[in-house]
Amino acid sequence: MDLQNEVRTRMRVDDIPGHVKLRTAVRKAFFPVRWTLSVFWGAVSRAARGISLVTWCIHVGIDYYRLVYLDYTPEPDDIFVVSYPRSGTTWLQMILYQLTTDGNMDFVHIAEVCPWFERVALNKRDITRLPRPRVFKSHLPRLWIPKGTCRYIYVARDGRDVAVSMYHFYKSHFRYKGDFRRFFKLFMRGWVAWGSWFSHVAGWWKHRDDWNVLFLRYEDMVRNLESCVRKIIDFCGLEVPEERIPEILKRCSFQFMKEHEEKFDYALELMLERGCMPRSFIRKGRPGGWRELFPPEELERFNRQYEKRVKQLGLSFDAPGT
Ligand code: A3P
Repeated sequence: MDLQNEVRTRMRVDDIPGHVKLRTAVRKAFFPVRWTLSVFWGAVSRAARGISLVTWCIHVGIDYYRLVYLDYTPEPDDIFVVSYPRSGTTWLQMILYQLTTDGNMDFVHIAEVCPWFERVALNKRDITRLPRPRVFKSHLPRLWIPKGTCRYIYVARDGRDVAVSMYHFYKSHFRYKGDFRRFFKLFMRGWVAWGSWFSHVAGWWKHRDDWNVLFLRYEDMVRNLESCVRKIIDFCGLEVPEERIPEILKRCSFQFMKEHEEKFDYALELMLERGCMPRSFIRKGRPGGWRELFPPEELERFNRQYEKRVKQLGLSFDAPGT
């Protein structure tokens, strides 16, 4: 961040009106009560109307992370990439990653360099170690996003396209078996992960003129990516050499991201959270690798059992040349 931008950021801290600070404090104080009531009411209404247990668990999980992170105070140079799911979040993550780093593609998954804010607790991530400025992805509605003097870049997408994209996503990643009509009913009632698209978008749109909010449309990004990228550079006060822009645009193109799809796929993010490392399953494919790892004591223990239970049957595993 350049000096001018830094001064501007500091000035804005004092600009937050007293009533906004008070309202935030009251919300925070009453959060546990509201959370308990909302979980209870959510459970009753969802059970009564037969929503799936999985969806209900997702809601409770989200509520839990809201509770955990409500008190997080963002640093002034933090950048939150926010959206309703399936609106171009990952695309924005990639744009911000390209703009704030040298853009190398050495990461296993984009969440490594641009974590999902609500899930850092799950990943046990130490966010203080991330390089600055830190870029977080979030699906939190305006009400729940941690407030601060950081920057928020919100991307909204036509709700009809969101519904279709989400339907396919539910089918491919959550084993959703219903047809689109059934899914659409859930979508319209806000009974999908992250609730109602209408309230989410409306909530953020009301803040589009806040000094630290940049409101983008997915459709504009498709139409003219370069202009959106330049808007982001200006808004965040980033210094990006002009000669890097063509490469950044190339890397943020649909084609490039599709070619590196696994680095953006939610399925891999879940696997990584569970501790699974991709590309480690078909490993070396050679006999005798045990020599590198077996300590003498363990080898002796193995051999004892082997002699007793297998070797005497005539089965041997001596590799040629050993
Ligand atoms: P579709 O399912 O309509 O293809 P999110 O990251 O918020 O989950 O959004 C996913 C949507 O953004 C998907 O929409 C995906 O194809 C689209 N998307 C991701 N990268 C893109 C890119 N570089 N250009 C255009 N759309 C992109």
